[in-house]
Amino acid sequence: MKRYELINWFIKEYGYKSYLEIGIDVPNNCHNRIKCEFKCGVDPNVGQTNKPHYYRTTSDEFFKSNTYTYDIGFIDGLHTGEQVFKDVINLLSVLNDGGTIVMHDCRPYNETVAAPARVKGSSSWYGTVYQAWSLLRSTRPDLDMHVITDDCGLGVIMRGSQKLYTGPYSTFREWADNQNEIIQPLTPTQALEYYKRK
Ligand SMILES: C[S@@+](CC[C@H](N)C(=O)[O-])C[C@H]1O[C@@H](n2cnc3c(N)ncnc32)[C@H](O)[C@@H]1O
Repeated sequence: MKRYELINWFIKEYGYKSYLEIGIDVPNNCHNRIKCEFKCGVDPNVGQTNKPHYYRTTSDEFFKSNTYTYDIGFIDGLHTGEQVFKDVINLLSVLNDGGTIVMHDCRPYNETVAAPARVKGSSSWYGTVYQAWSLLRSTRPDLDMHVITDDCGLGVIMRGSQKLYTGPYSTFREWADNQNEIIQPLTPTQALEYYKRK
């Protein structure tokens, strides 16, 4: 299951009307594949500014002046734990009731891709997104959080409730040793059943 397939599934299943993508890069890879009535995107390095709701800026700057609210958001900007944590908190503050946040790169597969900065020569960089996820799993009993085990780990956050994670996660090794408890994995098939509108 690709990220845009999951996001489009949520949009259809829940009748969502508004979408925000943080970190667009190549629009055809994800943003242009999303089918939603109102789409907004932010990225400091790319951005087709002829489109009305593309913003060529950082997510922090964007949230300072954003006046919209969203049914679903996709966080895939700067992959540091600190930034991703801020993106989640900012997005939660403008997320409509019953809304969903999807986060990319929540399931790093080795120390190199999970490094705090991109390692020279490495083709992929998940960064420390896993630390932002773990911090939310440790401190936010008001959220429901699971990672779908496909496309680099698709984290899904909704308002709800969860039993907090209390173990360590400050290094990749600590995270990897406790991965199942932290990410509460769902296969794509399990996810479609779990998130099916009741
Ligand atoms: C992994 S790419 C996004 C990929 C895209 N979402 C997709 O699914 O194909 C990350 C993007 O985040 C952007 N970015 C970097 N720092 C950012 C920030 N502070 N706020 C928003 N976007 C940022 C980069 O310019 C880059 O284009």
